[in-house]
Amino acid sequence: MSEHEKFNFKNAEELREKAASLDLDLPWSEELSVLAQPVRIGAKESPNRFAVQPMEGFDADSSGTPGELSFRRYRRYAEGGAGLIWCEATAILPEARSNPAQFWLHERNVDVFAKLAGDTRQAARRVCGHEVVLILQLTHSGRYSKPEGKPTPLIAHRNPLLDPRHNLPEDYPLLTDEYLDRLPEAFANSAKLAARAGFDGVDVKACHRYLLSELLASFERKGKYGGASENRTRLLRESLLRIKQEAPSVFVTTRMNVYDALPYPYGWGVDKNDGNQMDLTEPVKLAREIKKLGAPVINMSVGNPYYNPHYNRPYDTPASDAIPPGEHPLVGVARMIDAARELQRALAIPVIGSGYGWLRQFLPQVAAGVISSGGAALIGQGRGAFAYPDSPRDILEKGAMEAKKVCLACSACTRLMREGKSTGCVIRDSKLYGVKSN
Ligand SMILES: Cc1cc2nc3c(=O)[nH]c(=O)nc-3n(C[C@H](O)[C@H](O)[C@H](O)COP(=O)(O)O)c2cc1C
Repeated sequence: MSEHEKFNFKNAEELREKAASLDLDLPWSEELSVLAQPVRIGAKESPNRFAVQPMEGFDADSSGTPGELSFRRYRRYAEGGAGLIWCEATAILPEARSNPAQFWLHERNVDVFAKLAGDTRQAARRVCGHEVVLILQLTHSGRYSKPEGKPTPLIAHRNPLLDPRHNLPEDYPLLTDEYLDRLPEAFANSAKLAARAGFDGVDVKACHRYLLSELLASFERKGKYGGASENRTRLLRESLLRIKQEAPSVFVTTRMNVYDALPYPYGWGVDKNDGNQMDLTEPVKLAREIKKLGAPVINMSVGNPYYNPHYNRPYDTPASDAIPPGEHPLVGVARMIDAARELQRALAIPVIGSGYGWLRQFLPQVAAGVISSGGAALIGQGRGAFAYPDSPRDILEKGAMEAKKVCLACSACTRLMREGKSTGCVIRDSKLYGVKSN
């Protein structure tokens, strides 16, 4: 097992030597032109290989309506040059919010979401001269619901690793089948509104152990949503199908965990004998079914940001609720690259890779290495989009990222999230998000 270490590389050689010493396959290409190539997303096209990953800003008002800071974030993403913007987790129901200031789309604020989508497209046209692909992530926060600012877990199964973190008693009630039966309609209603607001696609979020992600691992749940694969994947498949039938003008997709890094029977995408090893058999099968439902792209992630964040966002400094990583951050970066590659090789639609933030200014060479070797079709940036939203434009126009602008993987944005505050980069956007001013 490798030791955790902060980023301390002076140049690319040192980074690559470290990867080699850890026996990691870190794709690498000095030729970056592949990143400027357009890629088809069904009937749409991303003008380049950069995607902004969904990042909750928690800057909506108490009715879930995007506010001034939300408009600023999306304008900066669009001006920054990414060809695809995967908009953040947006609640389908009031109780499904993970924060009182999370986006929540409903009949009374659809016009504001329409303005957000319109302004974002306009900013991309004005500054980059291209059309962006816009996807809205629809969510039910499940275990991590916090609609009034205090945890109100809505859980699909009991979990001896996660339940103690919210002090849940052994008889804490599970969500009923009847409650879950109503959710495809709620997802479809939100998707119809997203279509009216002008988004190209909607994502039924199934990652990071929010409700649909938890269901994928509900091996021990009884009834129609637990046990067999068909049951655990039922709510995701039925929600996507319902959206397809009722909101045909938006495409369906998902951001799906392909690996939870929790032991069986509590983890999805894991080797049943060793929860630390990936086994993508079930995730790949589900992704193929989702493709058959018409998804033109799939976004992937791994792990649980509240429990083992080093799996999905390798960092220098942890957020307070993280378990110790016990591995070098490059191991986490390489694991995500391996997982995306396995999914991409199994699917004939574009896959968006994730978790490259820790690479700092060396992201472009790894990104180009991943794309040119068929390891993913797009490179997603999360924390980096907060810190350095115009990095795609710098990479495409100048061939490099500026070291002084990169994300430092310090987890300060995650810490803001845990404190229920609006999120952004505390270091690079300190006037707005610096600890003192918040
Ligand atoms: C403050 C914050 C908010 C996030 N919000 C979302 C979200 O709304 N939906 C989602 O799927 N992932 C969310 N993520 C995860 C990121 O999309 C991404 O997977 C993660 O930061 C790792 O990628 P990176 O190395 O590019 O940052 C969030 C992460 C952070 C730090």
